[in-house]
Amino acid sequence: MLVNLADILRDASQGNYAVGAFNGYNYETFAGIIEAGTETNTPVILAFGAKYLPNMSLATAFSLAESLGGKCKTPVCLHLDHCSDLDTVFRAIRAGFGSVMYDGSALPLAENVKNTRLVCRTARACGVSVEAELGCLAAGEHSHEGSAADVAAYTEPTQAAQFAAATQVDALAVSIGTVHGLYKAEPNLRLDILAGIHKLVPVPLVLHGGSGLAAKDILGCIDQGIAKINVNTEISVYAVAKTRELLAAKQPHFSELSLSQADYVKDVVKKYIAIFRRR
Ligand code: 13P
Repeated sequence: MLVNLADILRDASQGNYAVGAFNGYNYETFAGIIEAGTETNTPVILAFGAKYLPNMSLATAFSLAESLGGKCKTPVCLHLDHCSDLDTVFRAIRAGFGSVMYDGSALPLAENVKNTRLVCRTARACGVSVEAELGCLAAGEHSHEGSAADVAAYTEPTQAAQFAAATQVDALAVSIGTVHGLYKAEPNLRLDILAGIHKLVPVPLVLHGGSGLAAKDILGCIDQGIAKINVNTEISVYAVAKTRELLAAKQPHFSELSLSQADYVKDVVKKYIAIFRRR
């Protein structure tokens, strides 16, 4: 069944686990992510980034999610990931998405608050959840979200509390030392900052840059209020490497290649689900 984000994150916060948000942009990723959820009996967030609009329209993303996930027993949330364009956010709400991330983190704070509040009012009237972001992640390797120029700006706990109260967001993405992409060195996670945010902010917290994090770091973050963790790069890096291996070994039919690729996606998603659910 398709659900909104607030419902599955509420259960996650109460159960001290996190729900994975995995980026989907084609049939293979959508199928692999949804199958991983049903085979492990776990809710999943299908994160369609605004940057994947050249791959499929919002309407196609919704139709595919509904067709593959609408009748599943396990909840699937179709979520618009990282979108700084208000028009696209409103179109996603109209297209049937259960959740949108309005990313005004690059804007001056007052403008981020104003725009996020507008998105929250509109989305709430439509039964759609909203994630927003404060702070900025640095970029690692092979990232599709970050750029080499990105420099980490940690989220400030008091500001995060004021932001959450002023905007009424359902979930808040924070910057505490993770990066978008693969880590070039051991990550330096600021669990002290996360604990400070968790103490002051009453909404579920979101960790971007999940690819390559160690299980112990992930669990440490979940213990401090992280209820949603985003994973993109590792799915892509693994699926491309396995595709290369397969093509070096044989010449499959295009249709077989597609099935194998959905399985590669599923492997990575299941790996993270097991960590996020402490299995
Ligand atoms: P990674 O690509 O580092 O996994 O980050 C994904 C992400 O944060 C998507 O919003």
